[in-house]
Amino acid sequence: MCGIVGYLGTKEAFPILIKGLHRLEYRGYDSAGVALVDKDGNLNVYKTKGKVANLEEYCKDKDISGTVGIAHTRWATHGEPSDKNAHPHYSQSKNIALIHNGIIENYLTLKTFLISKGYEFKSETDTEVLVQLIEYMMQEHKLGLYDAVYQALSQVTGAYAIGVIERNNPNVLITARIASPLIVGVGEGEFLLGSDASPIIEYTKNVIYPEDRQVIKIERGKEIEIRSLDNEKLIKPEIKQIQLSLDDIEKGGFDHFMLKEIFEQPKSLNLCMNGRLQREQKEIILRGIQDYGERFAKARRILITACGTSWHAGLIGKYLFETLCRIPVEVEVASEFRYRNPVIYSDDVLIAISQSGETADTLAAMELAKKQGAFIYGICNVVGSSVARLTDSGTYTHAGPEIGVASTKAFTTQVCVLAMTALALAKRMKTISEEDYHRIVGELCNIETKINKILDQTEKVKDISKIFTYARNFLYLGRGFNYPVAMEGALKLKEISYIHAEGYPAAEMKHGPIALIDEEMPIVVVAPHYKMYNKILSNVQEVKARKGRIIAIVTEGDVEIRKQADYVIEIPETEECLSPLLTVIPLQLLSYYIAIAKGRDVDQPRNLAKSVTVE
Ligand code: AGP
Ligand code: GLU
Repeated sequence: MCGIVGYLGTKEAFPILIKGLHRLEYRGYDSAGVALVDKDGNLNVYKTKGKVANLEEYCKDKDISGTVGIAHTRWATHGEPSDKNAHPHYSQSKNIALIHNGIIENYLTLKTFLISKGYEFKSETDTEVLVQLIEYMMQEHKLGLYDAVYQALSQVTGAYAIGVIERNNPNVLITARIASPLIVGVGEGEFLLGSDASPIIEYTKNVIYPEDRQVIKIERGKEIEIRSLDNEKLIKPEIKQIQLSLDDIEKGGFDHFMLKEIFEQPKSLNLCMNGRLQREQKEIILRGIQDYGERFAKARRILITACGTSWHAGLIGKYLFETLCRIPVEVEVASEFRYRNPVIYSDDVLIAISQSGETADTLAAMELAKKQGAFIYGICNVVGSSVARLTDSGTYTHAGPEIGVASTKAFTTQVCVLAMTALALAKRMKTISEEDYHRIVGELCNIETKINKILDQTEKVKDISKIFTYARNFLYLGRGFNYPVAMEGALKLKEISYIHAEGYPAAEMKHGPIALIDEEMPIVVVAPHYKMYNKILSNVQEVKARKGRIIAIVTEGDVEIRKQADYVIEIPETEECLSPLLTVIPLQLLSYYIAIAKGRDVDQPRNLAKSVTVE
């Protein structure tokens, strides 16, 4: 995915666009660029490979004047990250500049057509086709920019959010979207575009959330004009208020967003449970289960689909629903599910989990299940996102904006929503005793305090991290509810430190990975004190017998594993089904500090983007 920003107003656009790009940089950061119509009526495009800071440096001696402009931070899909493939892209005559987030699927056909008409292409991107097609429409059919964009988009298939400006008309900025996120800010005499609200909130809280297939004309001193690609009728813009504050999207004194988000977890879990967890009565009131509990109760199966960290949360969901509700659950990564022609029954419930709500594979899996009649339930963080719009019902995680590429607070709030859903459903289905229900709900009320206790041990985790920067491989082991936590710990480490890591069910280790163990190999064992404790203790002994170096996550007061482990991090006691909310915290900190000690770019690790809006 990429980040797009736009500005049209009375102020100088460049500083606003650059600030916006910095805020959107989590979305992609292999190259960046800006286009401005300057005071002399030139359309200047400046773009360069690398991060937004490189672009700022590059622009130091350039004319950056202008009160209308568009800007882009890229995560390449078509064409390698390079100066020429960076956005904005010019049209042939250099009269139009365009930024794009998404993929133009039929770009090859359109490119062949445009080449036959004499158009020359400067980049390898799919995006350049669009700007050339707009120019073709303007010249061939004598159209103004708005109509030309409209006609061009009628011929395009794929996903996009775009911003377009024109040299000859610095009073107009055109935007449109299908499937890629876009917000339009409407301020006092100024308008802004953003892939999310972060570039906008400093200037206005009034926004429009364009629907799919809408093409929007923003014109100085005029009302916004919106038309749908489905029919040419004008649509009345509906202005809404953004609920976000600047604090939510700034680092707030932390070195990185990831660290801020790790430390925010008690607060985000509190927000997630707010209004849903009745602390005094030890009750859970969830709208989704109140309204659709019957649909869940009658479900033949629950299918859970998601990607990456959200998939790990889904795996914990399986343990939760099967243990508490006795409903069979299947969990599958969305990219496999969508392409293997899965058997889906109309009495299945499909739960889709996504932080961003924009992950392409998850959306496609949901569409597939919807077509086959399953009931679609979403667990998602971003309000109004595509996942939220595609569901029959669902629960927002309310974690607040997650900006670090490595997901942390999104994970714990997803697990929390899954736990609340399973508990509310179990109560309704009477698959849990009153006593167990109230005890577990009571424990949920204590979870924030217990996470704070783990966060108090940050210095200790930091010290342990420094010892392991030498490692080239890590093994993470866990069982039951904590097997997915082992996988999540390994993913965190891979993503931000570039150390190879694998998460494994502890007992499965002896069927293969044990061959890797020698005195160099760090093994993180997630071993809180539950019914499988003695089993995992045996696994720990197997590791020790082969001289592996053990970092163990144990319950406070643990005696046995401590004797075997090289390093021990304690977590407070809790219910087993809620333990992932605690055990994952030291693993997040461990990966963060190992990556820091290795000098990695924690918030923007190489090759990754915050959400993967392409297949
Ligand atoms: C998590 O640390 C990753 N960056 C990634 O695996 C992520 O969880 C995955 O891409 C799914 O994203 P979503 O939750 O926004 O759908
Ligand atoms: N497809 C465009 C490119 O590669 C935009 C990429 C994106 O939005 O992820 O440049």
